[in-house]
Amino acid sequence: MQGDGLPAGPHFQNLPELFAALEGLQGDPLAAHGTRIVISRGDPAARLMLIGEAPGAEEDRLGQPFVGKSGQLLDQILRSVDLDPARDVFVTNAVYRRPPDNRKPTPEELAWYRPYLLEMVRLIDPRIILLVGGVAALALLTEKRGITQIRGQWFDWNGRRVMPIFHPAYLLRNPSRTPGSPKALTWLDIQEVRRAFDHLRVGDAADAT
Ligand code: URA
Ligand code: URA
Repeated sequence: MQGDGLPAGPHFQNLPELFAALEGLQGDPLAAHGTRIVISRGDPAARLMLIGEAPGAEEDRLGQPFVGKSGQLLDQILRSVDLDPARDVFVTNAVYRRPPDNRKPTPEELAWYRPYLLEMVRLIDPRIILLVGGVAALALLTEKRGITQIRGQWFDWNGRRVMPIFHPAYLLRNPSRTPGSPKALTWLDIQEVRRAFDHLRVGDAADAT
C-alpha cells in the first residue's frame, strides 16, 4: 500500500510480471523514442534502491540504466563507501525509455510512468531509496523544491527512508571538490547513506537473535 493519495494503479504479483508489462505498454508517451525499454540493474533483493532520471544513449544501446559516464561515476560513489553496485543496490529510473534529444522527462511523462515506478518500489521493497537528481525527487516525492535544497535530507516516505542526492551528470559538470561543492556534499551524503545501511544490518542481526 503506497498510501500517498494516488488512485489505485496497476498491480502485479511479482517483478517478472511487472517487467513483462513494461515491455508491452500501451499509450507510453515515450514509445516513439529510444530503441528499447531500459528497466533495471543490480540485485532485486537489495535493501538499497536507486532511482535516476531516464536512460541516455549508452543505456538505450546496452539496455541497462546508468551504464554511461554518469553511471560510472555513480558506481564510483557507491564503491567509495564499499557498496557493491552488483550486490548491494537495485538501480532503476523514473522513466524507462530515452527521451528525445537527451531532454528531461516532462511532468506528464513522469506522471504516466509513476504507477509503474510505485509498483517497482513495492515489489523490490527496499528499506532505503536514493533519488538521484531533481527529476527523480520530483517523480517519487512530487517534491517541488530544488535538489540543492533537499539533497542529503532524509524523507520518510511510506515507511521507507528516502534521500535525494545530486545527479552524477551534474557532478561531471561541476568537478570541484572544495568544501561545500556539489561533489564534496555528495561524498558526505553517501557516507550518511552508508551509516544508515549499516544500521539496517545491526537491526536485522538483532531481529535474528
Ligand atoms: N542518467 C540517468 O538518470 N539514468 C540513467 O540510466 C543514465 C543516465
Ligand atoms: N539539477 C538536477 O536535475 N539534478 C542535480 O543533481 C543537480 C541539478
